[in-house]
Amino acid sequence: MTAQLNPHGDVAVLVPAAGAGVRLGPGAPKALRPLAGEPLLVHAVRRIAAAPSVHTIVVAAPAADIGSVRAMLAPVAPVTVVPGGAERQASVAAALAAVPAGPEIVLVHDAARALTPPELVESVAAAVRAGHDAVIPVLPVVDTVKEVDAGERVLGTVDRSALRAVQTPQGFRRSVLTAAHEAAGDPLTDDAGLVEKQGVPVVCVPGSELALKITRPFDLALAEHLLTAGA
Ligand code: CTP
Ligand code: MG
Repeated sequence: MTAQLNPHGDVAVLVPAAGAGVRLGPGAPKALRPLAGEPLLVHAVRRIAAAPSVHTIVVAAPAADIGSVRAMLAPVAPVTVVPGGAERQASVAAALAAVPAGPEIVLVHDAARALTPPELVESVAAAVRAGHDAVIPVLPVVDTVKEVDAGERVLGTVDRSALRAVQTPQGFRRSVLTAAHEAAGDPLTDDAGLVEKQGVPVVCVPGSELALKITRPFDLALAEHLLTAGA
């Protein structure tokens, strides 16, 4: 059954999904590869659509797959599908340009984080609504981290207590994200990085282990296992 989005919601979610998935190995673009029988993108969009504040979802899809992506998402939720770009940042910019007037909170969420719970979408949006211009979900870093030189010689041990692993969805006041993308220079891998360059404070909220990014074959196997276990 197609989910209904909230016409009174104040949140637009941009879903960059145009990457190739090189690190996952040969095959279709990553967002279209199956996870427990359904494309990663379907899992991701279903969970976003279940978040009650969401008014609009815009997916940036591989340019060659726009038609099939529209068809696969039609039974899941009402979404706008636009062609993505060569870099993630260009895909996000293309999706941002397609957000209609209305939502003043914009979240950017990787399709590759297909098991992200709707509760995380809500908690990031709530922190923006509470007055923060930029919000990122984070987890503590669990491994010891070393800085090394080009020859893999250890230069030192980094203080792990001051480090965070960053997930998506990242949430922004709409005007802040738009200004950051208009001013963007070299492509970065996350939107908070663009906003930081503008001098805007970015705050952290607790992330979720389920928001893991499916990057390598091991992550896909782990996600399959989590789904079997009820995620
Ligand atoms: N992405 C995008 N447009 C691009 C590159 C990436 O929309 N030109 C999206 C991906 O589809 C993914 C998210 O950005 O949902 C995070 O990127 P990543 O995990 O790096 O995915 P890929 O770029 O597909 O993977 P890889 O880097 O291994 O090729
Ligand atoms: Mg990539």
